[in-house]
Amino acid sequence: MSMRRWACPLARLALVAPFIGATASAQVQLRVASQRDAEGHAWWQHAVFYEVYPRSFGDANNDGLGDLNGITQHLDYLQDLGVDAIWITPCYPSPQVDFGYDVSNYEDIASEYGTLADFDRLHAEAQRRGIRIIFDLVVNHTSDQHPWFLESKASRTNRKRDWYVWRDGKGPNVPPNNWTAIFGGSSWQYDPATGQYYYHAFYRQQPDLNWRNPAVETAMLDVTRWWYARGVSGFRLDAVNTLFEDPQLHDNPTRPGVNAYGDQEQVRKYDDNLPENHRVLRALRQVADTYDAVLIGETWTDDVQQLKAYYGSNHDEVHMPMDLMFTELGRTPGARVQRLDARAFRRHIAAMETSGEWPVYVVSNHDIPRVATRFADGQHDDQIAKAIGAFYLTLRGTPVMYYGEELGMQNNDPQRKEDVKDPIGIKGWPKEKGRDGERTPMQWTHGPNAGFNAGAKPWLPAPPSARTHNVATENADRTSVLSVYKAVLKLRHEDPAVRDGSYVPLNEDDPNVMSYLRRYKDDVVLVVINMSGQDRTAKFDLSAQGLSGAGARPIVQSAARGDLSGVKLGAYGIFIAEVK
Ligand code: NOJ
Ligand code: CA
Repeated sequence: MSMRRWACPLARLALVAPFIGATASAQVQLRVASQRDAEGHAWWQHAVFYEVYPRSFGDANNDGLGDLNGITQHLDYLQDLGVDAIWITPCYPSPQVDFGYDVSNYEDIASEYGTLADFDRLHAEAQRRGIRIIFDLVVNHTSDQHPWFLESKASRTNRKRDWYVWRDGKGPNVPPNNWTAIFGGSSWQYDPATGQYYYHAFYRQQPDLNWRNPAVETAMLDVTRWWYARGVSGFRLDAVNTLFEDPQLHDNPTRPGVNAYGDQEQVRKYDDNLPENHRVLRALRQVADTYDAVLIGETWTDDVQQLKAYYGSNHDEVHMPMDLMFTELGRTPGARVQRLDARAFRRHIAAMETSGEWPVYVVSNHDIPRVATRFADGQHDDQIAKAIGAFYLTLRGTPVMYYGEELGMQNNDPQRKEDVKDPIGIKGWPKEKGRDGERTPMQWTHGPNAGFNAGAKPWLPAPPSARTHNVATENADRTSVLSVYKAVLKLRHEDPAVRDGSYVPLNEDDPNVMSYLRRYKDDVVLVVINMSGQDRTAKFDLSAQGLSGAGARPIVQSAARGDLSGVKLGAYGIFIAEVK
């Protein structure tokens, strides 16, 4: 696992009345309608999801850190863009060692991000615009400042001792085994007061919960109920592959080489992807289904079969396991820069299509460099960003966007170690510069601080390219990355072929131009993307599909012209047309 890899049913209408937690808005009975369309699709299958990193989206109180009110202020933008659900990365109280992924209270909002009242307002305003809110559930670990852990470490006999994974060392100063943390060093931290080690898959400030203890499961399921009752429509489940470890604590086999933190590489045989994970996912799913909520998985997998397992053998686990393999296609191992590789995409999409599952495509997130940076060639960067959007947002499945992606926003990596905020960047410098570069403030205007706030210096700096790549400037330019994203998202919402249709690959031998149909009954949309930096021509004979191909009506075109007898595409050109 690399550092970044931690890292048809019948239409039905079910009405259920779930239990509402005692702390939630009185004992109101919530009636949830689980609605499906004629294709049997649930709401989340038609939704466009958009990840918001709250620290970086909008800073309403001008203290340099984004906040919930800053998200509320920008809901009109999200609605206009075509977003149906926002996944907000953790905004619970936290010491912020891992910028929120170290939770010290699951049932509140971090004071730097606002209050529960701010959340209620955000939820109400989002609901008015048809936007749902997804929270991030850090299931694997808590902060070492969470009261559960403070109790657990208080003594060996504390009633919460077994809520975490405590073990004796092998001897003085020798941890229980050779497992290494995903963020470097041993996964075992010695606690001198009680003379035992506790296990942490990530930072030492993130002790792993012991999911073998039923009390942990009960507490975490209650957390989900608490937020469902307050209005969230689902959770993105953090680090779901690390919930369990081998109880016998076998050493992991080692591999040649060392990672960015100087640790011996190892095969994560005994501390990753254990079968017991699935039991927990089924329990979380049962509760989620009661609320017509969705579970999105942070599912780093090696192949489609592994990904398929997360849906559950009876479709009873994660609704939307994110296809994070999609972020790695076209990458030479070890290299940062990627290239669009039509053949690799075609093969991967074919594998997803034959899996029988509903794909969940992702091109970037807060843990990996921005997509516009990964694929940049220094000459056609904007056109590449447009091509990527036009491509994956017209595939069958549900997309999960990352904030700023729609602007062609680029990474702004720290140049000096002393500027790094992300601890893995400090620990791994210069080999691993951390994740600050992909977490910089959303670029709203060409003004000071990119319009993120009108006050204190933002916690991370916006890049100089914010002067040209920002919402205000791009909204005024019909050819901008933002305008292409908006046009494609509009199509996704309005055209049944793009929303519900099948995926039919075309010209499968073409190494440069990716072409496919999306087809729903008589409605057919052709998508053609030049994945190369050279001019290309693509020709189409759609007779095998029972289509004459006459009268193609272009819907979205960028650096492309022509008709089905010859679509002429400039570098990374896009041609999307309705065909008969
Ligand atoms: C995955 C999250 O996306 C990442 O940001 C975090 O550092 C780890 N899980 C640990 O929670
Ligand atoms: Ca703020």
